[in-house]
Amino acid sequence: MDAATAPPPSPARWRVGLEQSPVSSVTFRHAREHRVKACRGIILKGMCGIVGYVGPLTPSDRPLSVALEGLARLEYRGYDSAGVALATPDGVQMRKKAGKLKNLRDSLETDPLPAATAAIGHTRWATHGAPSDENAHPHLSADGKLALIHNGIIENFAALRAEVESSGVRLRSETDSEVVAHLLARAFDAIGDLTEAMRTVSARLQGAYTLLAIHEDVPGVIVGARRNSPLVIGLGEGENFLGSDVAAFISHTRTALEMGQDQIVTVSADEVRVIDADGAPVTPREYTVDWDASAAVKGGFDTFMAKEIHDQPAAVGDTLLGRADETGRLRLDEARIDESVLRSVDTIIVIACGTAAYAGHVAKYAIEHWCRIPVEVELAHEFRYRDPIVNEKTLVVAISQSGETMDTLMAVRHAREQGAQVLAICNTYGATIPREADAVLYTHAGPEVAVASTKAFLAQITACYLLGLYLAQLRGNMFIDETQALLAELAEMPSKIQEVLDTEGHITDVARDLSGVDSVLFLGRHVGFPVALEGALKLKEIAYIHAEGFAAGELKHGPIALIDQGQVVIIVVPSPRGRDQLHAKVVSNIQEVRARGARTIVVAEEGDDNVEPYADVIFRVPQTSTLLAPLVSVVPLQIFACQLASAKGLDVDQPRNLAKSVTVE
Ligand code: AGP
Repeated sequence: MDAATAPPPSPARWRVGLEQSPVSSVTFRHAREHRVKACRGIILKGMCGIVGYVGPLTPSDRPLSVALEGLARLEYRGYDSAGVALATPDGVQMRKKAGKLKNLRDSLETDPLPAATAAIGHTRWATHGAPSDENAHPHLSADGKLALIHNGIIENFAALRAEVESSGVRLRSETDSEVVAHLLARAFDAIGDLTEAMRTVSARLQGAYTLLAIHEDVPGVIVGARRNSPLVIGLGEGENFLGSDVAAFISHTRTALEMGQDQIVTVSADEVRVIDADGAPVTPREYTVDWDASAAVKGGFDTFMAKEIHDQPAAVGDTLLGRADETGRLRLDEARIDESVLRSVDTIIVIACGTAAYAGHVAKYAIEHWCRIPVEVELAHEFRYRDPIVNEKTLVVAISQSGETMDTLMAVRHAREQGAQVLAICNTYGATIPREADAVLYTHAGPEVAVASTKAFLAQITACYLLGLYLAQLRGNMFIDETQALLAELAEMPSKIQEVLDTEGHITDVARDLSGVDSVLFLGRHVGFPVALEGALKLKEIAYIHAEGFAAGELKHGPIALIDQGQVVIIVVPSPRGRDQLHAKVVSNIQEVRARGARTIVVAEEGDDNVEPYADVIFRVPQTSTLLAPLVSVVPLQIFACQLASAKGLDVDQPRNLAKSVTVE
């Protein structure tokens, strides 16, 4: 019996005296007051764009133009403010603007900055702290001599902020990044060496970061540091480049250096020095970028969808980051609904559309099991027009990647009119749906460019698990050790997702072999059922193939009539360690369709050899507990759809008739 599906605690076991609950209602702001358990080994791909350029000591317009061009190449990452800082003979000069790069360019047109020897540039995707001029990067030290840009999340932000403020510094922004700028300036003033200052300050930071800094007293130099967030160096002739990915500088050089965890780099026009956290010199790996500029923005993948499928370990890891303290107690830092309200909730209704609704279906199984609260999942456009039973004891959870889906927005308004509390799970900071909700749990998947949702889907499921564990902990359904055990398993999921990604070649071969099919059926049970629905949707929307997902138990109630010789059927098999003989039932479903001529593709756990006699193809996934399985079992289906559509020569990222956000009803 796996942890996630062990029988729910009997009422007698429920924690008595909820006042012991460690969870307190918190404000919307990201409460970073406690160090959090960063997910082990997760390489977090930051959402922001970072560019650096160091050229000859003769000032010119090149640093600024290279920085702006690099930021333009990183626009695909999505952002809501942009800024640059220049090292000039008149000291550090900075300009930053909320909104798109055009706002920054217009400002520089009307009020130009002087010629420079170095530049750092940044596009910010706001996760905490509104998109505004003040919160945009770069951030300056109090004396204006140092400028810093940052990508990532500093988890011990609150303690460091208090330390900086107690020294008399008045912070200008809501960001964690500005605090680092002040710490770095203070360290430089004490040490007199920007590299050593960066090394000592970055050692104090917890969480994920890429940092670049310039200082007036160190002309023609950029110092950088990274942990769990990307930074690459581009080697030029008499000039050098830095970027959050090679897209930032690929038009200038294809020779790049890869930086490792906790390393610090010092870049001038003619030299690149890298040291480790102890100050020892490091020789970074040099490589040649063989992607073209357009491929570079996709991280070397052929499509954004393929890139985003591979971003999923980071999307899940980012979404988990900062949600629990050292003891594993959950703090949903943006979910501001009073504990008493959450304890009084007697029904949860998930409203969403498309893929987001399937995330809600996964959530249903988990939250009902952990919290013993009935969970309904409603298509937003249906919810609105039926006469739902909604009142102040109903928690409506609105799931939306874009936060702008009109069907979901109108359903949110309808639910609120009926007195329900609304919590939004959204991937886009400040979008309409989170703004109109009573509380928000942001996913941190980063901008999702492909119309077909992949990494946002896994991030939504992850956020739903967090919500379920939070409610179970708050309402006393689970003991802290139970929550901890599941959080520990969740922390392992990014690396398990990576294991599936590593089997992409096998899945791609199968997809290419089947590129001529015109119909595929998907079967699943329990949490495998919404996974089957999502697999079918992916194939429909990007490969234009008739695909349908069914609950496997439904087969004999009609759909089995569809099985004919050669019909492709993909079956998502639950863990053999799960409860209720689900595994055996699904294996018999495979037999049933195979006996009638189906070509069976089976998604099954490593080591599950029961399926082998009936499977024409097996997509293997790592072992997980039953309720967490969707985080790995959907990945082969995403790859299958993406590669089959690519084999058909279709536009995977912008499929016909579809928009990324459906802002009409
Ligand atoms: C998923 O691949 C589709 N793009 C679509 O079903 C999408 O999930 C749906 O339109 C909801 O979008 P949202 O998450 O932005 O609200």
